[in-house]
Order: sequence, then structure tokens, then C-alpha cells
Amino acid sequence: MEKVELTPIFDESAIKVRIAELAQQIASDYPDGGVVFIGILKGAFVFLADLVRALEKPCHVEFVRISSYGSSRTSSGELKILLDIACSIEGKDVILVDDIVDTGLTLSHYRKRLLQQKPRSLKIAALINKTGRREKSVDLDYCGFDLEKGFLVGYGLDCDEHYRNLTCVYSIDSTH
Ligand code: IMP
Ligand code: MG
Repeated sequence: MEKVELTPIFDESAIKVRIAELAQQIASDYPDGGVVFIGILKGAFVFLADLVRALEKPCHVEFVRISSYGSSRTSSGELKILLDIACSIEGKDVILVDDIVDTGLTLSHYRKRLLQQKPRSLKIAALINKTGRREKSVDLDYCGFDLEKGFLVGYGLDCDEHYRNLTCVYSIDSTH
């Protein structure tokens, strides 16, 4: 039988502190607010919810769903937009939000698509920057934590749809 082991990597208080810092950075970059946050489903839903609540500025929230991984742990390199934003971002300040950057394919692909819609500015926020398998470089304007490798779950991140509701981030290992 498969035995799954979860090792804590970032706990609730470390995440909370880091998100407060990111929110402060965003507040000083956009003192008048008005940012359109675009969260990449499903993984970004927890991070985005905490980030916008830590930001004491008016803002809008949109979501997009992009398929890249299916149920496997490696990127197929093929991205399909399953749900796109429903508003115009022309002339708006936009922050694209993801849970974790791995190969960079998802963010670099979707960023290009958003730029065609002529936002006034476009920045990227991610809770975790996993650097070891980068294929496309991604400039992260707001980054929670850097980590070289590992498969992580919790705080929105899943493994085959499990563990998204855990309040901390864990690395997951399975043994037989
Ligand atoms: P990328 O296109 O390879 O950068 O993949 C980004 C997406 O893959 C993220 O938004 C996550 O949904 C998923 N992903 C990458 N690494 C992990 C991980 O360690 N745990 C859970 N999901 C991951
Ligand atoms: Mg994701």
C-alpha cells in the first residue's frame, strides 16, 4: 500500500507574515488601489483570498482556469484556457496571481495573452517560486517564498485534487 508523508515547509504564521509584507508592497506600488487581480484557478484561490484581504485598498478580483497538468505531476507543455476573465483589462493595472511557478510555462503563456488586451501595467505575484525546473523565465514582481525543488501541497496547492484545504504548505513524498 502507498504511504504518503507530508513534511511541513511553510507554516501558517510564516505565510501570514509574508502575505502581509507582499500586501504592503502592493499598497505602496498602487497607493490609489484599483488593481485587477487575476487568480489562476484552482491553486491560487487561497493565496489570492488572503492577499486581497491583507491589502487595505479597493480592488477587483477575476479568475482564469488554465489546464496544464491534468492529473500528473509534470507539465505537458500544452496549455488550454478553460475559463477566461469576463471583464476588459484595457488601461487597467493588473496583477496575475498564481500559487506556485514551476516550469514557468503557464505564467509566461498567459501573460502574453493578457498583454494583447493592453492593460496599463501587468505584474505577477506567486506564493512560491520553485526554481529548479524553470523552462521559461518569469519575472516575479511579488514572490512569497523561493524553493529549489519538491512537490508541495496545502494552502491551495493540490496533488490529484487532495490537500488544497490544509492551512500550511507541505512537501509530499510517497513510498510503497
Ligand atoms: P508551470 O507551468 O510548470 O510553472 O506550472 C504551474 C502550475 O503547476 C502551478 O500553478 C500549479 O498549479 C502546478 N504545480 C507546479 N508545481 C506544483 C507543486 O509542487 N504542487 C502543486 N502544484 C504544482
Ligand atoms: Mg496553478
